[in-house]
Amino acid sequence: MRILVVGSGTMGHGIAEVMAIAGHEVKVVDISWDILNRAKEKMNESLNRLYEKKVISESPEAIMARISMSTSYDVASDIDFGIEAVPEIFELKKKIFQYLDEKAPKTAILATNTSSIPISEIAEFTNRKDKVIGMHFFNPPPLMKLVEVIPSKYTSEETINETVELTKRVGKVPVRLKIEVPGFVSNRIFIRLVQEACREVESGEASIQDVDSAARNKLKLPMGIFELSDYVGLDVVVDIWKVIVSRGGTDVKCSSFEKKVSSKELGVKTGKGFYSYPGGRYVKVPLPEDSKADPARIISLAVNEGAWLIENNIVNAEEIDTVMKLGFNFPKGLMQIADELGVDSIVKNLEDIEKKGEKAYSPVKLLREMISRGETGVNAKKGFYRYT
Ligand code: 3HC
Repeated sequence: MRILVVGSGTMGHGIAEVMAIAGHEVKVVDISWDILNRAKEKMNESLNRLYEKKVISESPEAIMARISMSTSYDVASDIDFGIEAVPEIFELKKKIFQYLDEKAPKTAILATNTSSIPISEIAEFTNRKDKVIGMHFFNPPPLMKLVEVIPSKYTSEETINETVELTKRVGKVPVRLKIEVPGFVSNRIFIRLVQEACREVESGEASIQDVDSAARNKLKLPMGIFELSDYVGLDVVVDIWKVIVSRGGTDVKCSSFEKKVSSKELGVKTGKGFYSYPGGRYVKVPLPEDSKADPARIISLAVNEGAWLIENNIVNAEEIDTVMKLGFNFPKGLMQIADELGVDSIVKNLEDIEKKGEKAYSPVKLLREMISRGETGVNAKKGFYRYT
């Protein structure tokens, strides 16, 4: 298959690498050769690491030979599949989809790796609305197994099936949303984790290190919430929550993230965010073993969001858990963790925070119903899952 990736930043170059590893011919387009050459270096570096660890058996040189680069959209003229992975700027995505629609064969599917913008809004700029779809990868794409597949209200069943098949062929696991929602499953939940982490710190309940230590040492997540935000890019995190909030999501109040963004401390990529990363490279953040932060409180708002997604028939508990395990390397699914910590404990935390004037924490209907039915998780043998 001939694949085009537009944008060669953090996600774009990783996606191109994944496609080339799977044997596809890949063209990468970006605005300058400086950016493209940097992407080439990063792909080489990553392929060498995978080769040394025997994750791939083909040589990095042979894989790189399938990747070509350009600063012109003309290379789209013979592609089968296009994937856009540029920053979350709506006007930029609009322009790119208009170009691609003009240049690419009428049969080509055009996917977007947007983190949160509704796919229908992007599809509307093309004359092939049925062939536009969301294909959301996770950072770093060569390591993370998940791809969220998000059909818009216009996407045809054929486009969905082809995208699901391509996802499987490149060794990834697709989770298909039934209906698109801003932020999809992954980022709606991620943003709620960020929101609660931020509230705990800004209200003085806990420190950044307390929250991150509890996330890593008590919840056993691979990264703390602030650490993961630095890894994703604080500008990206703020962009995602703005898209979700501006399209009807509950407000996110978090001035410390906005302060970091306005002082250009964007996380790993700028060498400094909530933590420091010399040379702009990720290093595991040193954290204290002990922490006063409560894991049930940290995940409470995210579980509320998960319950909202279930209640609105967008995905089920298993699909949410697949997203968190394969997209964020959680050792267990979020809803499973909620069952283990107790749905009653999650709801108590939500109600306590709601009483402090935080309307976003009002437990959703499904959670209230679960409590009234006594479905409080593992202890009750029923929560989001059944236990025997
Ligand atoms: N290519 C190849 N190998 C890579 C790599 C890459 N891009 N990045 C890291 N690795 C390798 C390292 O070389 C290392 O190999 P080793 O074990 O042989 O030394 C191994 O992966 C582990 O890396 P590190 O030692 O640097 O650090 P960690 O053990 O902490 O693992 C991690 C890094 C896999 C990123 C892990 O911390 C993790 O899973 N973090 C969570 C990531 C996550 O949640 N991603 C999703 C973000 S949200 C998103 O992308 C959506 C978007 O819309 C915002």
